[in-house]
Formats: sequence, structure tokens, C-alpha cells
Amino acid sequence: MKTIILIGANGKIGQAARTGLRNHKVITAGHSTDNYDYKVDITCEASLRKLYQDVGHFDAVVNAVGTCEYANFTEMTEAQWMNTILSKMMGQINIVRIGQEYISDHGSFSLISGILNIKPLPTAIADATTSGAIDTFVKCVAFEMPRGIRINAINPTVIEEAWGLYGEMMPGFQPVSGALVGKAFERSVDGFITGQVIFVDA
Ligand SMILES: NC(=O)c1ccc[n+]([C@@H]2O[C@H](COP(=O)([O-])OP(=O)(O)OC[C@H]3O[C@@H](n4cnc5c(N)ncnc54)[C@H](OP(=O)(O)O)[C@@H]3O)[C@@H](O)[C@H]2O)c1
Repeated sequence: MKTIILIGANGKIGQAARTGLRNHKVITAGHSTDNYDYKVDITCEASLRKLYQDVGHFDAVVNAVGTCEYANFTEMTEAQWMNTILSKMMGQINIVRIGQEYISDHGSFSLISGILNIKPLPTAIADATTSGAIDTFVKCVAFEMPRGIRINAINPTVIEEAWGLYGEMMPGFQPVSGALVGKAFERSVDGFITGQVIFVDA
């Protein structure tokens, strides 16, 4: 049994990830409520460092957070770009950059990207761009991870549990179950792969 920090545990992808982590001790972390074992803001380096120091020993970090702003490219402001970049891209990079100092030998990081960098949609340019950045980050940084630490990205299409929110803006897309996305996180955490983007698409 591994000790896993699940960041964004109460979100839709967080709950999907959780279905794949049943064999492990899951420590939950999130932002806006007290319904977590630990509070963390992934856009704040000090907050991430405090999370890792407070938890102490852990074998894996699964991240399900990446706030994205949606607008047509011609209308998207720099502030909207920066909110997305600071969360979905730099937030996740900092989870790894700081976390690698604390995670146990042969531990693993599992990050979240999303299918929109492969299947673009109107208004989703910031999500697509930062998802592509995360996919590239894990493929390349895997070569530099110390102490046998692994890293993968999960790149799902929209999940059934979120179809009510996003379905209207995604004509022609087929949602997948959160449980299937949970399997991808399970493969990342329990397998031996590293530097991989695990696509989950219908
Ligand atoms: N939903 C899908 O079908 C789908 C498919 C592919 C990819 N994705 C990607 O998955 C990611 C999560 O999406 P979601 O649908 O699960 O969103 P969600 O349901 O809104 O959940 C977001 C989670 O992130 C947490 N959070 C937000 N800002 C945070 C911060 N600064 N620090 C720490 N935690 C923070 C929230 O915490 P609180 O609970 O405390 O508010 C919440 O648990 C996004 O990047 C999205 O693009 C989603």
C-alpha cells in the first residue's frame, strides 16, 4: 500500500482518480473548503512546500487541479492567459519541482492534461495550450527525475460526470466514464511506466 497525496480530490477528475487508488492510503488536498486532510494552493510555492512538509512521508502525488479560462482567442485577455498558465501549467510544474525534494525514492507524479490539445475546440485555446505543455513536460522531465522517481500525464476526454457542464460546447465528442480515467491514474501510480501521456478517449 502506497501513501498518495491526491490534490483536487473533491473535483470531478479528483473523484475519478480516486476510483483507481482504492488499494492505497489516500491523503486528500484541495483549496476552497475544509473537506480535505490538507489545504493547498497549487499556484503558491510556499503552500506546496508546506503541504509536503506537513504530510511527511509519501510515495506518490496525483494532481487533478488545473484551472482554465475559456474565451475566443481574439477576446482572451492576458489576465485570463496568466490564470490558466499559473494553475494548469506552472502549478503542476511546481507540484513536481518542489515535490521531488520530498517524495520517497521510486515515487511517482501523475499530472492532468486533457484532450483539447489533440482535438481543439473554440474558446479552449488556453486549456489546449497548457495541456500540450504538460504533456511535453512529462515526456522530457522524466529523463531528469532523480532517485527512480516516475512521472506521467493523464490526458482524458471529457468524463460522463462532467458532460452536463461541458457537453454543449463539445459537439461530436463522446464522454468516457470517470472510472476509466481512474484506471489511467491507477496505471500511472501502480505501473512502471514513466514519461508517458496516457490518453483516455472514446
Ligand atoms: N472534467 C473533465 O471531463 C476533464 C476532462 C479532461 C481534463 N480535465 C482537466 O482536469 C482538471 C480538473 O477538472 P475538473 O473538471 O475536475 O474540475 P473541478 O471539478 O472544478 O475540480 C477542480 C478541483 O481543483 C481544486 N482547485 C482549484 N484551484 C486550486 C488551487 N489553486 N489549489 C489547489 N486546488 C485547487 C478544487 O478544489 P476545491 O474543491 O477546494 O474547490 C477542485 O477540487 C482541469 O485542468 C481540466 O481541464 C477535466
